[in-house]
Amino acid sequence: MNHQLPPFPAVSRRKFIQNAALGATALATLPILGCRSGTAQAAGRGPTHRTIPLANDWLFGGRFNAAATQPGFDDSAFARVSLPHCVSKLSWHGWQATDWMDVWIYRRHFSLPPDLAGQRVFLHFDGVMSGATPVINGQALPEYVGGYLPFHYEITSHVKADNVLAVAVDGRWKNAPPDGSPRGPEAVDFFEPAGIPRPVSVRVVPQIFIADVFAKPVNVLAASRRVEITCTLDAALVPAKPVRVQVELFDAGRRIAGVSETFTIVKTGETELKLALANLENVKLWDVDTPQLYEIVTTLMVDEAPLHDYRTRIGFREARFELDGFFLNGRRRQLFGLNRHELFPYVGFAMPRRVLRHDAELLRHELNCNIVRCSHYPQSEAFLDACDELGLLVWEELPGWGYLGDAAWQELAVRDVADMVRRDRNRASVVIWGVRINESKNNPALYQRTRAVAKALDDSRPTSGAMVGGIYSTKDWFQEVFAYNDYHHADADYSVELKPPLPDVPYLVTEAVGQIIGPPKVDHKYRRAGDPFLQAKQAIYHAQAHDQAAKNKRNAGVIAWCALEYGSPMNSANGIKCPGVVDFFRIPKLGAVFYQSQISPQIRPVIQPDFYWDFGAQSPHGPGRNAAIFSNCERLDIFVNGALHTTSLPQREKFPHLPYPPFFADLELAGADRSELRLDGYVGGKLVLSRSFSADESHDQFCLRVDDAELIGDGADATRLVFGRVDKHGSVRPFLAGEVSFELSGPGILVGDNPFALAEAGGMAAVWIKTQPNSSGRILIRATHSSLGAKSVAIAVRPATL
Ligand code: GAL
Repeated sequence: MNHQLPPFPAVSRRKFIQNAALGATALATLPILGCRSGTAQAAGRGPTHRTIPLANDWLFGGRFNAAATQPGFDDSAFARVSLPHCVSKLSWHGWQATDWMDVWIYRRHFSLPPDLAGQRVFLHFDGVMSGATPVINGQALPEYVGGYLPFHYEITSHVKADNVLAVAVDGRWKNAPPDGSPRGPEAVDFFEPAGIPRPVSVRVVPQIFIADVFAKPVNVLAASRRVEITCTLDAALVPAKPVRVQVELFDAGRRIAGVSETFTIVKTGETELKLALANLENVKLWDVDTPQLYEIVTTLMVDEAPLHDYRTRIGFREARFELDGFFLNGRRRQLFGLNRHELFPYVGFAMPRRVLRHDAELLRHELNCNIVRCSHYPQSEAFLDACDELGLLVWEELPGWGYLGDAAWQELAVRDVADMVRRDRNRASVVIWGVRINESKNNPALYQRTRAVAKALDDSRPTSGAMVGGIYSTKDWFQEVFAYNDYHHADADYSVELKPPLPDVPYLVTEAVGQIIGPPKVDHKYRRAGDPFLQAKQAIYHAQAHDQAAKNKRNAGVIAWCALEYGSPMNSANGIKCPGVVDFFRIPKLGAVFYQSQISPQIRPVIQPDFYWDFGAQSPHGPGRNAAIFSNCERLDIFVNGALHTTSLPQREKFPHLPYPPFFADLELAGADRSELRLDGYVGGKLVLSRSFSADESHDQFCLRVDDAELIGDGADATRLVFGRVDKHGSVRPFLAGEVSFELSGPGILVGDNPFALAEAGGMAAVWIKTQPNSSGRILIRATHSSLGAKSVAIAVRPATL
C-alpha cells in the first residue's frame, strides 16, 4: 500500500524487430508492427517491420484433442483468449498441480500478406509452460520441452495466405529441468501452472537475415572503450555479391557512432561476423542510479539497400566480483537484494508487460534493492527490460531446483544455459550467470560443461551457482564466484549467523532468512494473516543478514529469501509459500519495512513501524516492549496521544554495518488511551517527516486503489486493484474479515476471486483488471465490503496503436 513510485512509462516493445523483404514491392503490403518509440524514424531507416505478434484471437479448447490439431477442425466452440494465458482458472491460493498437469490445445488462425515470395517465415515462442508441440497447417513441428526460454521454427515451406496454427501445450511433469524428480511436483518448491505466458510471434525475414547480435562493451572505464560486435547472419542462399553490415549506436534516437564492413558469405546457414565500434569517448556509464541505455542498430545492406535490421540495447558498465566484493564501474557496491519468483495469483506466470515491470519497480524503488536473483529460472524479457531501465542488477540462472536428472535431462540443462546466455547477454543489468542447478549436488562433468558453454557465448561475465548446507567448499568448484544459500542461525533466539566467506574465491550469499529462520513448528510464520509479532521478526532477521554481510568486505552481499510470496506445494499455507517480505499480491508486509528504510533521507525520508498500531485481539497491549521502527532519520520523537512518549536513536550498536539501523522503543501500552501514535523524524536537527497512526477503528475506511489510471485496450494490459482497510491516516489496519464483491462495467475483465474472502489473506489483497481486445473507453469497478461499504474506481482505456 505504500507505493510511492514514479509514473509508469508507456509500454515499450522489445528489441527484436525483423525488417524488410528482398523486394521493395512487398514492403507496402505488410503491417507495420513492433516499432519501439519512434527510434526507427529517428534513425532514418527505411524498412518496414516484419514481426507479426500473435497476441489476441487465440482459441483455447481445454484438454488436448488430436483432431483439433488439424486445419479443418471446427473450433467454433473453443474459447477466445488473449496471451498471456494460463490453462487453469486459479484462485490466489489452493493451487493443485493436477489443475494443469495435462496436455492442452490452443489454435490460432492467421493470415500472411499475399506477396511473400522470396521471404522466410519463422514462428517464435518466448516461452510456453512447460513444453509445446506446434502444428502448422496440419504439419507437426518438433516438440520443445522446457518452460522458461524462447524457441522458434522456420515455417517458410508450410505457410500460405491463410494459416491454422495449433499448439499442444504440455503441462505435465517431464524429464526436463526443473522437473524430473521421481517424486513429481511435490519435489520442487514452486508451482508451474501451464499455458502460454509469454509472447508468440510470426517473423517474416529475407533469405539472408540477421539472426543475432551480441554487442559486448569492453574496456568500459577507459576512453579507448569499444563495443565488440558478433553478428550472426542466417543465409538460405549464398549471395552472388558481398553484403555490407553496418552497426550504429544511438542515444535516444541520436546516432553517436557507427561502423560498416563488407563481407562475402560463402555458405548457407549461419555465418558469424565480427565488427567493433570505437570512438566512444563521450558515452555515459550505466549504473544502478543512472541506468543509461543505448541502442545498437545492425543493418544488413545488399546493393546499398537495407535488407534487414536488428535492434538491441546495451549499457556501458564494468561489473566485477573480486575477493573483496562486487565492483560496479570501479566502485565497491554492497549487493543488497532479494530473490524473485515470477508467479502471480490467479494466472501463474501469465501477466502482461506492465505488471511484470511493476515487480522491478517495487524491488528497485520501494524495497531499495540493487540486485534481484531470478530464482530459479530465466524470467520474462519484460521483467528484465525493466531491470535494464531501472538499474536493478540481475543474477540469472538456468531452470532447476535441487534435482539432477539423467544424461538426457543434463543435455537440456546445458541447452538452457546456452539459450539463457544468448537471450540475455546484451543486458546491462545481468552481472552473473548461475550455471549450476540451485542447491544441487556437485557434478564436476556437468558443471564444467555448463560453465564452458556460458563462457563460449559470453566471456564478459562470471559464472556461479547457489550451494547449500554442507556443500560449503571449493572442492569441485569451477565457477568464478562462490554463492551460498546461508540459513545458519543461533539456536537460542534464531538470530541470523552467516558463515564467513570462503577464502580465495569471490563470495556472495544468494539466500538467507526465508521461512526457515524463526521459531520452529510455527508454519508459515510470516503470513499476513498470522501472528503480528512473528511478522515483525521477519524484518529484524533480514536486517541482521544484511548487517552481517556488510561487516566483512569479502562478502559481496546478500540476496535474501525472498521478495514475493509464491505458489508452492512445499510447506505452504494452502499452496502459498510465505517467506516473501511482500505478499503474493505484491503488498509489502512488515518484513518489507527494513528494505523500505535503506535509502538516503535526501532522496526520501522514511519512517516505517515494524508493527501495526493496533490493539485488537492479536496485540491487545500494542506493539510491545521492544517495538522496532525502521527509519533513515537520525532521531525519532515518539508521541502517544499528542504527548511525547520517548525520543529514540538508531540502534547502531546492534546493527553497526547497516546504513540505517532500526530504532527500538517500549510501546507496551495497556489500558490507557493510546488511540494516536505520531512519529516525528529528524535529520540534521530538522523535522523531515511526521507520520501518524490511529488505533481508533471507528474512523477506519475501506480502501480501493489501482496501480494505473490508464491501460491499453489490447486484451492483455492489466493493472492491480488493491483493497483492504486503512486507518484515518491511510495506514494498513490488519486482519479485516468479511467479503469484498466486485461489479465491473466497461471494456475490462476482472482477474481474481469475486467475491473475495479477506480473512485468509490477512485483511489486504488484490485482484487484477485486464482490458478487452480492441477496446477503449472507461472501466468502472465498484467494490463492496460486507461491513465497510462500497468504493469505486475508474480506469481509462486507450486504444492500442500498432
Ligand atoms: C531454499 C531454496 C528456495 C526455497 C527456500 C525455502 O533452500 O533454494 O528455493 O525453497 O529454500 O525457504
